[in-house]
Amino acid sequence: MTTVSSNLELVERARQVIPGGVNSSNRGLPWPIAIVEASGAYFTDADGTRYLDYHAAFGPLILGHNHPGVNAAVHAAIDRIDIIGTGITDIEVELAERIVHHVPCAERVLLTNSGSEATYAALRLARAVTGRNKIIKFQGTYHGWHDAVLMNVISAPDKIGQYDPLSLGMLPEVIKNTIILPFNDVEALGEALQQRGDEIAAILVEVIPHNIGCVLPRPEFLSALRALATEYGVLLIFDEVITGFRHGLGGYQGICGVTPDLATFAKAMANGYPIAALAGKAMYMNRFDPGGGVVFAGTYNGHPIGVSAALATIAELERGKVYPHCFALAKRAAQGIQQIAHELGIPMKVAVFGSVFVPYFMEGPIETYTDLLRNNTAHDVWFRKTMCEHGIFMIPTALKRNHVSAAHTEADIDRTIETAREVLRRLPAT
Ligand SMILES: Cc1ncc(COP(=O)(O)O)c(C=O)c1O
Repeated sequence: MTTVSSNLELVERARQVIPGGVNSSNRGLPWPIAIVEASGAYFTDADGTRYLDYHAAFGPLILGHNHPGVNAAVHAAIDRIDIIGTGITDIEVELAERIVHHVPCAERVLLTNSGSEATYAALRLARAVTGRNKIIKFQGTYHGWHDAVLMNVISAPDKIGQYDPLSLGMLPEVIKNTIILPFNDVEALGEALQQRGDEIAAILVEVIPHNIGCVLPRPEFLSALRALATEYGVLLIFDEVITGFRHGLGGYQGICGVTPDLATFAKAMANGYPIAALAGKAMYMNRFDPGGGVVFAGTYNGHPIGVSAALATIAELERGKVYPHCFALAKRAAQGIQQIAHELGIPMKVAVFGSVFVPYFMEGPIETYTDLLRNNTAHDVWFRKTMCEHGIFMIPTALKRNHVSAAHTEADIDRTIETAREVLRRLPAT
């Protein structure tokens, strides 16, 4: 039982002992909020406000909060075993087998605990395999909080084309080994590889850059990624931390038909329990064998809590009902909100892919980060904040995505659309 009396009380206590009062730089909100309960598509704060949740903890909750089947599997696992820290367990092998079965690039799998650890290991492996230091990432993508990647996500217009590190304390010599290119730009990619291909170890890409909403890759960009990586001996790494298991059991690579050399997974793989995976071709992944010269370690890697949650989540996804349900509801939400914007004469494009939808306050094509500079940030944030005030939680940060889970219902979506109508009618002129 919680003893929290109000949002304000707990947030004030948190600020006394936790920097900023939150455990991730991305979790702060402009108003005090302390969560006391979560179930299905909803969570409840300490003041008793119940929110319909589209934030989904930045994406993991494909089945909804506190899924009974996943929780039961976790309970069963920890009643039997806990962390051993030597050898392997049956459930770790089973999970690796499920991932190899579903994910096209996955011939070998390693488990860790967060997406950041997975992308870190992927880059280390690529550097070891190629003997090269530099990597390519794209403006608008996020791959975790380590020095090689924590830059150029949502950049101010004057920072585009320059380094835009997100934190102090990052090593300049690491930053400068990352080359930032525009997403969806085949020419820029070709030029960079022509000029410096022999220095580049990896192309690391969120194939759908969901950290800026829902920007889809051009087909020719996808094929260029594969062809140019092969031509220049560069490892192609798909960061599927968001797309993996959310858009399909094979990740986005199973949908687009382009197979990377390595791929990273987390979030929806275990419906929010802490686990991540690095998967890839055996010829590269086997360098992590003892004697292969590349180290992969972690006290909590393959912990039964995350592993059993992942097995139960994947089993639920394999039953085949979750994706059609979520995709249909996300489309319904996107179409409903788009229609309202049209009726009210508000410039808006609601992007949708699978279970993800994002209302952008702009018109015209959305293919590159620079296209998004046309987004009306003030309207975007105001809309989200006002939806939150009406009990519909869309994180009040511009460009962030909304996620539909198996626990959302048609009635939830219809309420969202009707609330959006009320809110958008009052959109201030800015
Ligand atoms: C695409 C992508 N890669 C990697 C990460 C890092 O994952 P984690 O926060 O689990 O370290 C994130 C987190 O949002 C992400 O969106």
